[in-house]
Amino acid sequence: MSHRRLLVTNALPYANGPLHMGHLLGYIQADIWVRAQRMSGNEAVYVCADDAHGTPIMLAAEKAGMTPEAFIAGIREGHEADFAAFGVDFDHYHTTHSEENRELATLIYTRLRDGGSIAKRSIQQLFDPEKQMFLPDRYIKGICPNCGTPDQYGDNCENCGATYAPTDLINPYSVMSGATPVLRDSEHYFFELSKFEVLLRDWFAGKYSNGKPVANRGVVAKLSEWLDGGLKDWDISRDAPYFGFPIPDAPGKFFYVWLDAPIGYLASFKAYCDKTGVKFDEFLAENSAAEMHHFIGKDIINFHGLFWPAMLHGAQMRTPTALHTNGYLTVNGAKMSKSRGTFIQARTYLDAGIHPEFLRYYFATMLSDAPVDVDLDLKAFEERVNSHLIGKWVNIASRTAGFVQKFFGGKLADRFDVEEAALWQTLLSHYDGIEQLYDTGEFAEVTRRFVTMADLINGYIAAKAPWLIAKDESRRHELQQVCTLSLNAFRLIAGLLKPVLPATVAAAEQFLAAPIASFIDARRELHHHTVGNFEPLLGRIDPRHVEAMVEASKESLGVSAEALVVEKTKKAINNTPKVAMTNADSQPTNIGSSPAPTPDIIAIDDFAKLDLRIAKVVGCEFVEGSDKLLRFELDAGPLGKRQIFSGIRAAYAEPDKLVGRNVVFIANLAPRKMRFGISEGMILSAGEGGADLFLLDADNGAKPGDTVR
Ligand code: 2FM
Ligand code: ZN
Repeated sequence: MSHRRLLVTNALPYANGPLHMGHLLGYIQADIWVRAQRMSGNEAVYVCADDAHGTPIMLAAEKAGMTPEAFIAGIREGHEADFAAFGVDFDHYHTTHSEENRELATLIYTRLRDGGSIAKRSIQQLFDPEKQMFLPDRYIKGICPNCGTPDQYGDNCENCGATYAPTDLINPYSVMSGATPVLRDSEHYFFELSKFEVLLRDWFAGKYSNGKPVANRGVVAKLSEWLDGGLKDWDISRDAPYFGFPIPDAPGKFFYVWLDAPIGYLASFKAYCDKTGVKFDEFLAENSAAEMHHFIGKDIINFHGLFWPAMLHGAQMRTPTALHTNGYLTVNGAKMSKSRGTFIQARTYLDAGIHPEFLRYYFATMLSDAPVDVDLDLKAFEERVNSHLIGKWVNIASRTAGFVQKFFGGKLADRFDVEEAALWQTLLSHYDGIEQLYDTGEFAEVTRRFVTMADLINGYIAAKAPWLIAKDESRRHELQQVCTLSLNAFRLIAGLLKPVLPATVAAAEQFLAAPIASFIDARRELHHHTVGNFEPLLGRIDPRHVEAMVEASKESLGVSAEALVVEKTKKAINNTPKVAMTNADSQPTNIGSSPAPTPDIIAIDDFAKLDLRIAKVVGCEFVEGSDKLLRFELDAGPLGKRQIFSGIRAAYAEPDKLVGRNVVFIANLAPRKMRFGISEGMILSAGEGGADLFLLDADNGAKPGDTVR
């Protein structure tokens, strides 16, 4: 077995919104790669972090009435929970707003400056006189100078596609205040990238990666094209107010978010080293024999393929070994769209009850070394997962395991007969080489190998028909051979799939009573071995769950992901008892002791929009398949009967005891289609959340349907 030492990173998600399917593509890809490396005998440390700095995050926190620190803490919690649910298992997850990152960013900058590759010069930029801040291009709008379309951003026109400088806009205005921006001078700091042209050419040629390609050929070609076109200095500073790290000896100046973002990889690794005793320098020193691999999206190859190697080299550190680039994700053949319900957040997928490893498998079937776009075709997703994982793989065990238990006490045969030995060798010939395929990112080919192997063994099972052999007592030897080969094949495929389906394969290992420690280990034949009882490992995808996911993704129509996050984070941070709207998705999580933001003041008209009513509970029960919900049936007097799903199960262990009491509910909330049925309103309760929730009541005399004023 080989033994390489690898530091592996994923592009850092911005701390301003929840993860969606597009994010997951790159994280799942890297996680599979890391697991495969470990199964090949290599050592891999896998790190990531939230990308926490910059103007958009500063403004989102301000809008939420929170400090940026509290805001990013709430987002990070959500990201980490989503990663864990999809089996993306970082050795360390950090934030770029950390001491390690501050130190490393300062160190790298200082080395670059002392090495003579930082220049300082004055530039003119648009300034918002009301907000008293310089405006990034995306915060300036105006009339397109090319086609005259109003309300176009400062960098390009969405109507005609023209790109221009924000100063070219006609009648520009600040998106934040509406004020007309004015031009102001400001001193900026630049990284002189052109000084690193030779380094970059050598790096592209593999001089720093033992001759191995640093990226897919097309990616290197694109980077070379930029290099041939002439490298420009890179503006690495931003003026206050800015959420980031101050530049040393430069009052009022901060590092641009993209300077300290990739350094965040190292900061996360540093934090990992501090907690485990691994030596940072062994991976990062200029002459390190360890490898550094970055998994990124194709939109950020300039940062990782030009600025980043140059920065590292200029700071006397090692350069990356390789960039692994993925394309964009489309859903049902088109860009993710809120109106079509295809802008699917990680949480929405999970809430719909679809197995997270199904997505991992589907992505694996689509991935290769090339950064091509991947389409999540929901119909194909359903069919492929059901057909491959259940129909082809799990079925091998479910069609044979029962006989092993029934007739042989769980014991497999001592050896293969001639026919079985030959088929086993054929299976191995398809299995061998998967290490290399995983290493080069050819996951789709790995899954094709799986299908070939599964088809061979299923063909064999069908021809042997063990269910018929089992009826004939004189054919027990033959039956045991069929089952022994089938379960060995099942295990071999489990070994192949282990990086893709870690949790499911762990269950398979348990059933087989034989762990799969490595790709080589999976080739070991199981003979004279007792397996456990077989439980179905996976169930088919229920198409209704996919429909529910699409429906739920439509719900946020008109509300930006950012706004939803602001709302959720606001809720989470507010740990003073309050009236909680206990519908299914309001589970406030307590993320610390930051002060509660003052609620916005509303006008009486806003309150009047809520039709709050009294209702009597006529039925209340647990909801099968949900550990959060109770299903209420309410008598709302003249409004009739209502069904409402409420997320208060943890607070009421005996729902039938609620029958007969009064509750307060919102009667004019748009009905919401859930996996379990339609929810026709929202019941109010007070408290922190979880078990600490208390339904509101009304004094005697209030009747079902009465208005709450
Ligand atoms: O494009 C993005 O989403 C960035 N947050 C990626 C940063 S990757 C690394 F450089 F930090
Ligand atoms: Zn235009």
